Amino acid sequence: QIVHLADYRPTDFVLERVDLTFELDPTNTKVESRLIFHRREGVDASVPLVLDGDELTLSGLLLDQREVPASQYDETGESLTVRDLPAETPFELTITTFINPEANTQLMGLYRTNGIYCTQCEAEGFRRISYFPDRPDVLAPYTITIIGDKAANPVMLSNGNFLGGAGYDEGRAFAAWFDPHPKPSYLFALVAGDLGVVEDTFETMSGNEVTLKIYVEHGKEARAAYAMDALKRSMKWDEERFGREYDLNIFQIVAVSDFNMGAMENKGLNVFNDKYVLADPETATDQDYANIEAIIAHEYFHNWTGNRITCRDWFQLCLKEGLTVYRDHEFSADMRSRAVKRIAEVRHLKSEQFPDDAGPLAHPVRPTKYREINNFYTTTVYEKGSEVTRMIATLLGADHFKSGMDLYFERHDGQAVTVEDFVKCFEDATGRDLTQFSLWYHQAGTPLVTASGSYDQTNATFTLSLEQMIPATPAQPNKEPMHIPLSFALISDTGSIAAPAEVKGGEVTGDVLHLTTRNQIFTFSGISSRPVLSLNRSFSAPINLHFDQAPADLAHIARHDTDLFARWQALTDLAIGNLTQAARDVREGKAVTCDPVLTSALLEAAGDETLEPAFRAQALTLPSEADIARELGSNNDPDAIHAARQAVLTAIAKAGEETFLHLIGEMAISGPYLPDAASAGKRSLRNIALSYLTYAEETPARLAAAFADADNMTDMAQALTLLAHRFPDKAETSDALATFQARFDNNALVIDKWFSIQAMIPGAGALARIKALMDHPRFVANNPNRVRSLIGAFAFSNPTGFNRPDGEAYRFLAEQILAIDPKNPQLAARILTSMRSWRSLEPQRADHAHAALMTIERAPGLSADVRDIVERMLKS
Ligand code: ARG
Ligand code: ZN
Repeated sequence: QIVHLADYRPTDFVLERVDLTFELDPTNTKVESRLIFHRREGVDASVPLVLDGDELTLSGLLLDQREVPASQYDETGESLTVRDLPAETPFELTITTFINPEANTQLMGLYRTNGIYCTQCEAEGFRRISYFPDRPDVLAPYTITIIGDKAANPVMLSNGNFLGGAGYDEGRAFAAWFDPHPKPSYLFALVAGDLGVVEDTFETMSGNEVTLKIYVEHGKEARAAYAMDALKRSMKWDEERFGREYDLNIFQIVAVSDFNMGAMENKGLNVFNDKYVLADPETATDQDYANIEAIIAHEYFHNWTGNRITCRDWFQLCLKEGLTVYRDHEFSADMRSRAVKRIAEVRHLKSEQFPDDAGPLAHPVRPTKYREINNFYTTTVYEKGSEVTRMIATLLGADHFKSGMDLYFERHDGQAVTVEDFVKCFEDATGRDLTQFSLWYHQAGTPLVTASGSYDQTNATFTLSLEQMIPATPAQPNKEPMHIPLSFALISDTGSIAAPAEVKGGEVTGDVLHLTTRNQIFTFSGISSRPVLSLNRSFSAPINLHFDQAPADLAHIARHDTDLFARWQALTDLAIGNLTQAARDVREGKAVTCDPVLTSALLEAAGDETLEPAFRAQALTLPSEADIARELGSNNDPDAIHAARQAVLTAIAKAGEETFLHLIGEMAISGPYLPDAASAGKRSLRNIALSYLTYAEETPARLAAAFADADNMTDMAQALTLLAHRFPDKAETSDALATFQARFDNNALVIDKWFSIQAMIPGAGALARIKALMDHPRFVANNPNRVRSLIGAFAFSNPTGFNRPDGEAYRFLAEQILAIDPKNPQLAARILTSMRSWRSLEPQRADHAHAALMTIERAPGLSADVRDIVERMLKS
């Protein structure tokens, strides 16, 4: 039941070709699979062929077109074993199964969504379609024939190039596709149904014309324009930046409304959660546009990092995911503001991945064992995996990183490889030994670096002592010191960056210190006045940094660093110091104070017109309640944290009222909505100013007006959020909620926002609100987006509501998990991870959380997905 990396071995049989014929039927689809295999050299003739299956029933089995006698095979539903197969010559197996797409609520394999046939095969969904060697190291070209009712399925798509299609028989049609690029089964896709399409073309760098098609529900075509634009920019960027060209004559995207994840990179036929395709100014926020751009790019970039070069086994998931996230981050940084993008990445990493790494679900970027692979599509594999790739680029420099990537593409094209193969390319291309660096793949936990500096006026030296500690994580009590690249600057008292005459104590390349031992002392000489050290600039390493810097020093960095990210980080450090102190004060019944150094640094950044508005908005956005909880570490009281943060916000709001009023006028945009980064930045600065103002005010009038005036979804959703969260019981709020729902009642993605905004209203009243919303006619218990928008938003993003001291909400979540699990285990397991930090709560809440988890654990018939998560969360 547990799969170990150490047990990997190649298959006994080599798959040469796949030929699939689907006869579509909503409840009884026939799948005929013809597979040509040969026995791998050296494999004994007595070894049988074992294929994977899941909830399958075999209805026919032929060997070289002759029926296989029952004595020659065994079928269990989970596997098909065939014996007495040819020793040397290739043979053809024809396997017929019938499946029920309509009954497939797991959304893995072939399922139906709004009358459309759709597949999701990663990681192990193909085995729900047909018996198959369903693992990523089995690569073959596929021919696909789809036969279906002509009227119901005017569109019938699969991977690769279109071969042809026509009428088939009475009222039925067929379409045939051929994908010449050998691929594993997880990249297979089939889509059929009645869909609208938007079409465009792209000319590749060597002059091939590629047809681009985005399929959406009829009537939504106009909302795919931004996605199409993002796709073309992605294709161009991958050519220019990585030299990667597209390799089929058609590239297709399908948007569906029932999808477990964000999107899927099936070869030539990406399938998307429609949330990440559809956008127009009236219904999508700036954040939605940015997500669409990033995810379209991400899936497209997988064509090379994932599809052309894939994973040997699922332990290597970060080989494609970490690398592809790195590539989409770089793309967005080039399309938008690099510094602002980096800030958003680090906020996301710290709020989502750091808690993973610090709790019971912690696992290495490259795990060595799993019970359920679906549970390893984590921020650790994706986002920390991206950070590890980024550190390779930092260590080697841009040119060497490029040579390593070029070598990777050249050496491994068409293969299924490992993380070691990837790292070796950088070693071979540059001669650098990355053995110690590779610990980033293997050791879980966020390294803690403790720094202290001292200045010696007489000798004009600055000494920096660094110590690294990697916390114990499940199954990894002891850790080795890692190679941690730390970008730094020494900022002089006048604000210029001092170039030291000499640095001793370790390797320094450019502005990067290489911390490689447990303790290390760097000495900088030729420093004529006391410098302020800015460390881990750009977040060069994904670490926790303990560096006791005086508020005045942080303010100095915030004012002078040339790295904008570091300026933001200094402000954040200032704020977090204040906020954690405030939370302690609240618990001790003391009055909360806000350090004037923080207030003036924030307001200075907010009003600095030399800085782009998006950056200023980020500067004003205080760390979240979850960030504060993480910083405090243990014995957390979410109510105290909330009260503390509100008090600090109010103090800043009062001190900055004039600045905020000024910004609201200054950042107003006239003319039509444009989704570009500069306009989005102005809106974000204006909206954060608006949110501060509401903390200084006692009535919802300003917000109600902002809601009524909004001419785009960004402003409207922001006004509605502030109204609901600040004034939940006022008539203005219920009016606005009702107006919003009525106006967007036929747009599921906007109604998701309506649910989420209400799910996140803080306070003990949240649970009653959630329960009432579950009875709302628009709540759809089988739609993953809707479930996430209500139950997910509540559990992940409503700290005070979810963590009510009486534990009622934990018990509620347990019930919901048990209700979702039989239908959609992946969705249930994902939402359950919202409780991963339960041990850092104060004892009373932690006891309630523990009891709720125990209820889940004891429930009969749990899926492997939920069982795996709940057991790991309970393990001490
Ligand atoms: N490979 C997809 C992506 O990153 C995600 C697929 C997730 N699948 C899953 N079973 N969790 O774009
Ligand atoms: Zn991906």
